Amino acid sequence: MGYIATGSALAFFTAVILRRLFLKSKRQCPSSKVMSGKTVIITGANSGLGKAAAMELAKRRARLILACRTLASAKDTVKEIQKATGNSEIIPKELDLASLKSINKFSKDVLTEEGKIDVLLNNAGVFQCPYSKTEDGFEMQMGVNHLGHFALTLLLLERIKNTSGSRIVVVSSSLSKRGSINFDDFNCEKDYNKIKAYNDSKLANLMFVKQLTEHLRDSCVDIVALNPGMVVTNLGRHVMSSVIKAVLSPLVVLLGLRNASEGCQTLVYCAVADELRGKSGIYIGTDFQPCDYPPNAMDNEAAFKLWELSKMLTKVA
Ligand SMILES: NC(=O)c1ccc[n+]([C@@H]2O[C@H](COP(=O)([O-])OP(=O)(O)OC[C@H]3O[C@@H](n4cnc5c(N)ncnc54)[C@H](OP(=O)(O)O)[C@@H]3O)[C@@H](O)[C@H]2O)c1
Ligand SMILES: *[C@@H]1O[C@H](CO)[C@@H](O)[C@H](O)[C@H]1NC(C)=O
Ligand SMILES: *[C@@H]1O[C@H](CO)[C@@H](O)[C@H](O)[C@H]1NC(C)=O
Ligand SMILES: *[C@@H]1O[C@H](CO)[C@@H](O)[C@H](O)[C@H]1NC(C)=O
Repeated sequence: MGYIATGSALAFFTAVILRRLFLKSKRQCPSSKVMSGKTVIITGANSGLGKAAAMELAKRRARLILACRTLASAKDTVKEIQKATGNSEIIPKELDLASLKSINKFSKDVLTEEGKIDVLLNNAGVFQCPYSKTEDGFEMQMGVNHLGHFALTLLLLERIKNTSGSRIVVVSSSLSKRGSINFDDFNCEKDYNKIKAYNDSKLANLMFVKQLTEHLRDSCVDIVALNPGMVVTNLGRHVMSSVIKAVLSPLVVLLGLRNASEGCQTLVYCAVADELRGKSGIYIGTDFQPCDYPPNAMDNEAAFKLWELSKMLTKVA
């Protein structure tokens, strides 16, 4: 009996380890492009995918601006990445995407301090939080995930356009496919469903990419959308207790779910890959291959309406 149990357990763990090794090789960014001399801005760079992407891009010698909700956290992350990579060009900056004032200040500072912006990586996000509003009265998930990044992108656009071969990367999600923009109650004042609000905000990310691609048709800026897949990060903070997370995370990673350093490879690929040049509007999936936009993201009328509404609400452009 004991032999059978031990044998089965050994076989199981060997299979798990072999699977992890196999997955690891398939999950590496296929581009080895070095980023020396390139300036990359990453929002939400103190946690999860953003932090892991920052680490990877620091190894590739990019000049990095870590745009984080709290400056202290940005500074801690800079120290950690500097220690691990020896890259000295990593700049911590405060950016609260739930505040137009903060977004305006951040953008103004960056436009003063940075002569060029090669990559803007719109990564920060909030997931299924209880109902709350941003400083400017927007529902939090749409406010941070879409409107905040909308304002940020348009405020930095002049400099991005003036940098040759520049790129804007937008982190969306497969959960966008069931979203629909509720123009009648955009801030969910009548009815709030936290799951729907997240879905909708990630749909808004895709619609933004489509509209921005049209908007920048005659420029040399490339816009790339991506879906990172399911990744173990701090994203579930509003729906899962930290105790449950601490127990479950290593387990699900062992069983094959991506951890942050694996999950960020899609972000890194979209930020660096030369083969994406000139392919504005492309949507990249976890296998580093282009994927189709869900049908709801192809509604150009809704996307245009969202663009106009976002302009009005954020008072940019
Ligand atoms: N993990 C997944 O399975 C998955 C799947 C699909 C898509 N995504 C997307 O991936 C992106 C990154 O998420 P993650 O999984 O890495 O989660 P995460 O570990 O929770 O990181 C989210 C980041 O966004 C920042 N953020 C939240 N609100 C902000 C605000 N008002 N201003 C500035 N930054 C703010 C957070 O800052 P604080 O730490 O200060 O709160 C944090 O740095 C999100 O856009 C998410 O929608 C993730
Ligand atoms: C993520 O998993 C890989 C194995 O694929 C491992 O090498 C790496 O250290 C893990 N990273 C973290 C942050 O746990
Ligand atoms: C950026 O602006 C400078 C001066 O304003 C100009 O000379 C240069 O050609 C511009 N570069 C691009 C890529 O647009
Ligand atoms: C959110 O999206 C997921 C995945 O597409 C879907 O299963 C779910 O029903 C959606 N929830 C709501 C409330 O829209």
